[in-house]
Amino acid sequence: MLIGLRVQTGKDNFCISDGMLIFNSQLIDKYNVAGPRYTSYPPATFFHDRFNNDDLLKNVQLSNYQKPENVSVYVHIPFCPQLCTFCGCTTYTGMGNDVIEKYINALVKEIEYVSKFISKDRYLTQVHWGGGTPNSIKPEFITKVTEVIKSSFNLADNYEMAMECSPAYLDYNMVDHLTRLGFNRLSLGIQDFNPKVLKAINRQPAKIPVDKMINYLKINGFKGINIDLVYGLPFQTIDSFADTVQLAIDANPDRLVTFSYAHIPSVIPKQKLLEQYGLPSPHIKMAMLEIAFNMAVNAGYVPVGMDHFARADDEFVVALNDKKLHRNFQGYCTRLKTGQVYAFGTSSITQLFGAYAQNEKTIYKYIERIENERLAVVRGYELSKHEQIIRDVINELMCNYYVDFKKIAQDYNTSVDDVLVATGNNIEALDPFIADGLVEITDDKIIVKGQGRFVIRNIAMVFDPAIKKGIGVYSKTV
Ligand SMILES: C[S@@+](CC[C@H](N)C(=O)[O-])C[C@H]1O[C@@H](n2cnc3c(N)ncnc32)[C@H](O)[C@@H]1O
Ligand code: SF4
Repeated sequence: MLIGLRVQTGKDNFCISDGMLIFNSQLIDKYNVAGPRYTSYPPATFFHDRFNNDDLLKNVQLSNYQKPENVSVYVHIPFCPQLCTFCGCTTYTGMGNDVIEKYINALVKEIEYVSKFISKDRYLTQVHWGGGTPNSIKPEFITKVTEVIKSSFNLADNYEMAMECSPAYLDYNMVDHLTRLGFNRLSLGIQDFNPKVLKAINRQPAKIPVDKMINYLKINGFKGINIDLVYGLPFQTIDSFADTVQLAIDANPDRLVTFSYAHIPSVIPKQKLLEQYGLPSPHIKMAMLEIAFNMAVNAGYVPVGMDHFARADDEFVVALNDKKLHRNFQGYCTRLKTGQVYAFGTSSITQLFGAYAQNEKTIYKYIERIENERLAVVRGYELSKHEQIIRDVINELMCNYYVDFKKIAQDYNTSVDDVLVATGNNIEALDPFIADGLVEITDDKIIVKGQGRFVIRNIAMVFDPAIKKGIGVYSKTV
């Protein structure tokens, strides 16, 4: 059975019928199993508490001699004026400015301390503020942290400084403030425009109409402006989600993201509240992605990654065409701007060439440990050489739909055979994907074709020997 709709043009190469992208529902059934999202390799479920502050410091010092040379900084602000029930992030609501100020002071301390171990010859190319809702805290708190970042690192001329914002709390004054501080990219979490859906997920609508806000951001020189949507939420239908996608397109962002709602109530108990309304089935979800995909492509957006769309002149598209798209915990990014990531704040994850380190998850423990120990690592992971190889193979697949085993072997000064051994010697597990026309292997290269991008997590799982160990609870891949 095929589900689908007809669109006017077939500019992409994913169509299985002229002028029309249709998802194959048999493929959905076949490949809809639980699996990692591969925001990192190994997934965060592998981190362990034997990794501590000293391990982080050792790896930060090593990172000065490892690739990439440039530095990315992530700042986590775990506060939200209201908690959305669908949200997978650990955030706090109802915190007074006294608590937030203590948190900001701890952030400043942590940045000042860690940055001492990072070579001053390296350039800061990317700063990303996530959360939580960073745009909901007092502007002077944002200033304080930004100033310490600027004084602790060498800011590159072509730097990117971005903030994830909830439009319910974003006004022109905050945009003016961010502009003055040097921010130049912004992501707006819309999720859905339909008031019924927003009410069900306990979320407020945008303070300023989103089209006006995007226009204002563009006037202020912001680039790569992004809208996040989520499909699979209560009360969403294919038609209602199409209306939301149309409103998003009309607002003319540079990028559009359609996330599949990850429902894991065993890990995030508040999500259970959504079950009282009922949730769209995997087939309906796929039809929502399908309609969003066709609408975005018809509006001139280029598909990037699994669920991102970007204007043809956006740096994501340029990077994809050059096979230089990259991915980290903050989402897709380009190899040009994204360095090793030094993360600050609760639950934030530092992503170095050789290791991951995650901070304490509660603000109270985080503040206490920063005050007493200057660092607050709670768990982490040091990657073996084989795991570094697997990470690169999976990253290439997830980002660029392509992996050149010879190139990976060269990067690690080893043989293609060793790359195959590292990834579990499991190449025959690609046979079903090859038979379904989703993958091609030529000359030590794996090329993902047609609708293979929609089951890319399943294809990546073929090269993940850890998956056989069955560690972790994952959402379904579709
Ligand atoms: C960390 S949130 C911060 C965004 C900002 N606070 C807001 O409310 O717009 C970033 C994005 O993660 C996505 N997200 C959060 N929980 C999710 C879930 N359970 N499934 C899929 N996407 C989710 C949402 O699209 C959201 O915009
Ligand atoms: S979606 Fe944004 S505002 Fe809502 S709880 Fe998550 S981080 Fe907070």
